Amino acid sequence: MPAFPKPIHLAHQIIKKLIQSGDTAVDATLGNGHDALFLGGLVGEKGCVIGFDVQPAAIESSTKRMKENEIGHYDFHLTGHENMAEYIDEECLPLAVIMFNLGYLPNADKSIITTEQTTIPALNSSLQLLKPGGLISVMCYPGHAGGDIESAAVSQWAENLPRENYRAASYGLHNAPNSPPYLLLVEKIN
Ligand SMILES: C[S@@+](CC[C@H](N)C(=O)[O-])C[C@H]1O[C@@H](n2cnc3c(N)ncnc32)[C@H](O)[C@@H]1O
Repeated sequence: MPAFPKPIHLAHQIIKKLIQSGDTAVDATLGNGHDALFLGGLVGEKGCVIGFDVQPAAIESSTKRMKENEIGHYDFHLTGHENMAEYIDEECLPLAVIMFNLGYLPNADKSIITTEQTTIPALNSSLQLLKPGGLISVMCYPGHAGGDIESAAVSQWAENLPRENYRAASYGLHNAPNSPPYLLLVEKIN
């Protein structure tokens, strides 16, 4: 058992401590719904998970996962996360956590990837929707074509956040080959 957790497991450890029952959390890249299910277990029946993906297969797969696990409090949308503000009801705001897992849907069309053109607007929108003390987590994958440019843009976005309002951190293996994935975390201070 390695001493360091995988980046996504670190995100889960931190989010587990942060979310309270009744909170609303967003999965900005549903994929196969693993993160949505994780969030659904934390927000409880009084809370809600709102999810986004651009592929019908991701909405289907995530909905199936929620149903199989008897989680009823979710709201999934077939649209890009850059549109999230339009789809989140006022009464669900502000949000406790927004998770992004960038890249492509595993075992599907690898040409459909997240890109900085929509990821950065979605991250900016997330800053507005987050509550003070809330967290944005972003799994970045610089190892695939396009993922390198997107990850660099996301890192630069985080570096430029005003220090008085946000704390930004990153975590990943430094000596692994092939540009390993890393986690970027942004906490809204106020
Ligand atoms: C790495 S997968 C997400 C994995 C997922 N979190 C899970 O637990 O299975 C990335 C997903 O982002 C989706 N995606 C691509 N562009 C998007 C956009 N603009 N808005 C929302 N999702 C997008 C892809 O369709 C893909 O399903």
